[in-house]
Amino acid sequence: MSLEITDLFAEREAERYTLHARHLNEQMVRVLKTIGFDRGYRRGTGQYLYDRHGERYLDLLSGWGVFAIGRNHPVVRDTLKKVLDSDFPNLVQMDVSVLAGVLAERLLRYVPYLDKVFFANSGTESVEAALKFARSATGRTGIVYCGHAFHGLSYGALSVNGDQVFRSGFGPLLPECIEIPFNDLDALERALASQKIAAFIVEPIQGKGVIVPDDDYLCGALDLCRKFGTLFIADEIQTGLGRTGRFLAIEHWGIEPDMVLLAKSLSGGHVPVGAVLTRKWIFEKVFDRMDRAVIHGSTFAKNDLAMAAGLATLDVIESERLMENAARIGARLLGTFERMAQRHELVKAARGKGLMIGIEFGPPRSLKLKASWNLLETASSGLFCQLIVIPLLKDHKILTQVAGHGNHTIKLLPPLTISDADCDWIEQSFEAVISDAHRVPGAVWTLGKTLVENAVRARASG
Ligand SMILES: Cc1ncc(COP(=O)(O)O)c(C=O)c1O
Repeated sequence: MSLEITDLFAEREAERYTLHARHLNEQMVRVLKTIGFDRGYRRGTGQYLYDRHGERYLDLLSGWGVFAIGRNHPVVRDTLKKVLDSDFPNLVQMDVSVLAGVLAERLLRYVPYLDKVFFANSGTESVEAALKFARSATGRTGIVYCGHAFHGLSYGALSVNGDQVFRSGFGPLLPECIEIPFNDLDALERALASQKIAAFIVEPIQGKGVIVPDDDYLCGALDLCRKFGTLFIADEIQTGLGRTGRFLAIEHWGIEPDMVLLAKSLSGGHVPVGAVLTRKWIFEKVFDRMDRAVIHGSTFAKNDLAMAAGLATLDVIESERLMENAARIGARLLGTFERMAQRHELVKAARGKGLMIGIEFGPPRSLKLKASWNLLETASSGLFCQLIVIPLLKDHKILTQVAGHGNHTIKLLPPLTISDADCDWIEQSFEAVISDAHRVPGAVWTLGKTLVENAVRARASG
């Protein structure tokens, strides 16, 4: 008899917060309850989530980017069912996987200047592999990374994380990892000049804050890497697979790095997966003898479910023309938010490419708003964005997030499947909430007062 998993979900779903508070991360439950995000979603299809009352929400988070083709895509789901029904000889280990071979071949067609693929189970595992490969291939030890970078949270990836909040309390981290400011070629040149740097790792568009570099930055960085014998690792874990309107974000700048990292949406969100696409000579330095054939790897990497989901996802991206949709809808939304920045004094800028968009808020000029802004920001830097994110969910059923700690940017990372009707929904909702935020006194600032009280209380209790 099989486990009646849907019955189990239905029976226990109302207990999810109690279960998590008791057995998992209670702080997460507190956060969700404080900001009213404890919605108890029951169902997800495409770009929509449904709560237990059947209310529909537009998901602009897409599970931090994993559901680029939308939740529960029927093509990926059917492919996975077929794998489960197939009796394929999965993970034999002392053999090689058919599906991994085919997925590698397919991925490399998008990056013809690279020759080899290493599969992993997550973004951070892909970063770990890339750092190890870079050291092994170059015989050097240093790694250069950027301020505000996010590459994952395992020790190697954390050692190249540009946000002190994530690193705090976990040291010592990997030695010889050097932080430089993003978008600063002089700083990169100074860091690489020692000729001890194995790799420069960078997100083409930084996820934290949605920071788009100057047009000459990535090309200049690649030139410097070539000059000093350093490998260039493009972390496309968030930006890749069509998110920015191109298969890889680096294509906007026409550069050819030595390694490209993918994960998140590669499996359509269903199965953990990661991939390092790299040059042959790098791979051959790492796996250089028969007795080193398994010198780096992971038990579940290349599993049939992940590989099949990857193949199905690439089919969907192509057949539904999702890169084109991301470019077109993204341009529409960016234009809308740029116009909002001209009309509303609290909106400072909008930036991004394709469907990775940041809307930056900042201190108002008018006196009536200034006092309220200052009160909020003194209590906790970045709190203002919660005044937008909370009513967007509560009143307009739009799920968004703040793009990092102490940050004034709200990030849109929706499924690439969103439509013009969804854009209408987004534009009307943001316009309503942002207009409200310019009214003092008003509902938004009453919420602000409650958040300040909560922040003060949280600080007092420890
Ligand atoms: C650019 C980038 N690199 C790496 C990671 C880490 O991926 P994972 O959470 O799958 O370990 C993330 C996750 O958000 C990311 O955005």
